[in-house]
Amino acid sequence: MCGIVGYIGDRDSTPIILNGLKRLEYRGYDSAGVAVLDNGSIEIRRDAGKLSHLEALVNDTPLHGKIGIGHTRWATHGEPNIRNAHPHIGSTGEFVVVHNGIVENYLELREELVAEGTVFKSETDTETIVHLVEKFYASGSNLEEAVRQTLSHIRGAHGIVVMSSREPDKIVAARVGNAGGVVIGLGKGENFVASDLPAILEHTRKAIFLESHQMAVITKDDVRLMDIKGTPIAFTVQKIAWDPVAAEKGEYRHFMQKEIHEQVRSLTDTLAGRVDFDKGRVVLHELKLDVERAKKIKRIIITACGTAGHAGMVGKILLERIARIPTEVAIASEFRYADPLLDEDTVVLAISQSGETADTLAAMEEGRSKGAMLWSNVNAIGSQAMRIADGCISMQVGPEIGVASTKAFTAPLLDMYLLAVYLADLSGTISPEKRFELVSDLAGIPSLVGQCLDREPDVLRLAQKFKNMNHMLYLGRGINMPIAYEGALKLKEISYIHAEGYPAGEMKHGPIALIDRNMPVVALAPKDPWYDKMISQIEQAMARGGEVIAVATDGDTLIPDLTDNIFWVPETPWMLSPVITSIPLQLFAYHIASLLGLDVDQPRNLAKSVTVE
Ligand code: M6R
Repeated sequence: MCGIVGYIGDRDSTPIILNGLKRLEYRGYDSAGVAVLDNGSIEIRRDAGKLSHLEALVNDTPLHGKIGIGHTRWATHGEPNIRNAHPHIGSTGEFVVVHNGIVENYLELREELVAEGTVFKSETDTETIVHLVEKFYASGSNLEEAVRQTLSHIRGAHGIVVMSSREPDKIVAARVGNAGGVVIGLGKGENFVASDLPAILEHTRKAIFLESHQMAVITKDDVRLMDIKGTPIAFTVQKIAWDPVAAEKGEYRHFMQKEIHEQVRSLTDTLAGRVDFDKGRVVLHELKLDVERAKKIKRIIITACGTAGHAGMVGKILLERIARIPTEVAIASEFRYADPLLDEDTVVLAISQSGETADTLAAMEEGRSKGAMLWSNVNAIGSQAMRIADGCISMQVGPEIGVASTKAFTAPLLDMYLLAVYLADLSGTISPEKRFELVSDLAGIPSLVGQCLDREPDVLRLAQKFKNMNHMLYLGRGINMPIAYEGALKLKEISYIHAEGYPAGEMKHGPIALIDRNMPVVALAPKDPWYDKMISQIEQAMARGGEVIAVATDGDTLIPDLTDNIFWVPETPWMLSPVITSIPLQLFAYHIASLLGLDVDQPRNLAKSVTVE
């Protein structure tokens, strides 16, 4: 979950690394550090807290050098203090390492190293890596070999970048397992390395992605790839299309607010090139699917975590209703250890913004090992979940920086709808008339989202009214039940207000006991097939003295008689309504957190991509 940036070339590396880290700060913000090679010796600056602390430190005590590595940390082992900040330096001061992942056997390695006389300066698992590299180097290996030997001693998943004053013309990087990516950016007379593309996109669009068990030796003019046994590997250079300007905040106070407002565009882009409105057809080329293969699919298991899992819950309803394919949703952290029953007629479909979530990747590996077909619906270009899948539907939303996912939630809702229509068409389970109807319903979605965004002032008013609550209950049914889960998750992760999402019909089986004036109930009651049921739930909550905030369809005449607290949304075909009902709930969470003066984009304890178990 940490961010890594490295540079080698003729420019001063410090500003390049600090700028790169800035783009990755959403990955972890417990501490940050940078190490550069300055006239043959390694200079380090590190500080606890956000990157701005490190920037101030570097301003006060500058460091310069043409090769360097940096890191933003999301603490796993050891407190988020300065001693535990990366980069970690060895005992001789000649080797330095930044690391993403967990050294699972670090306690025993640490014990062995201490017994050999090594003095540890931090409580981190990472420090064992630098001492091992140093030890193997001292026994006659070169830097590349020393890293290789180190990798054969440490257990777990890792992204590692190492630099040494003994071999000052290179950086060595390695990736083992799914602890985040390692991407190498190619420049002219300079090269870059990072855990994520956004860190280097302002310098280059040419990238090489390391697969698991691969290493790279990077000099300013050359990159060599090998597996971790040392066998050279041929690589392909990918041209990246993302626009780095898309990752700027622009006129908005927070990335989250900007990303909420980008949804008209991201949903337009999601449809572009995939939907033929004249022919009433959807085509998802990236899935590399034909009629024969589509007809063989007997079951789909959607696996994901957090917000992506909520998108999967909507996906299940769409795939079953439209394509008539039995679909389950499996939380990735459970699925990976569930010993699931899979076969070649089952598709394991992972949804992931980052494409690097450790649990989701492990769930995909479980699918692969049991012979299932593997698909992914991913945003981050070149990420592992994109690369290892047999077919991928890429989200068309651009970089998402706010830790709370918004535009990367609504895009997979549409992606699942497109997938359902596409599969139904290929396998012949839908009439042409129905297909035309479903496809034409898509056309209005971006502008309906725009109408919801125009109502932001109404949401702000209710955010002001409810911002000091300690608890909220979110209720929904049917296709809007996952939106209750998602609305509650958005609120809790950025405002730290306790919020629970619940299937509305379950309220009477327990949570109703909690309802009073201090426990507002957010009720999703758009005009969908569950509308009448939701009206009864609202009445039940009100009968217990609860204050209800309803999401209701324009023109509804019943709900205004029940409550004054209403997020109005435009009328939408029910299968697409989750895209629309999500918008006021995203804005509601955003404005409450913002009014409370909280760090909306980098909420406490969280990180954007969760690359540890
Ligand atoms: O990158 P992913 O979509 O795989 O991430 C999954 C979850 O970690 C993520 O959705 C998390 O729940 C977000 N903080 C939600 O806003």
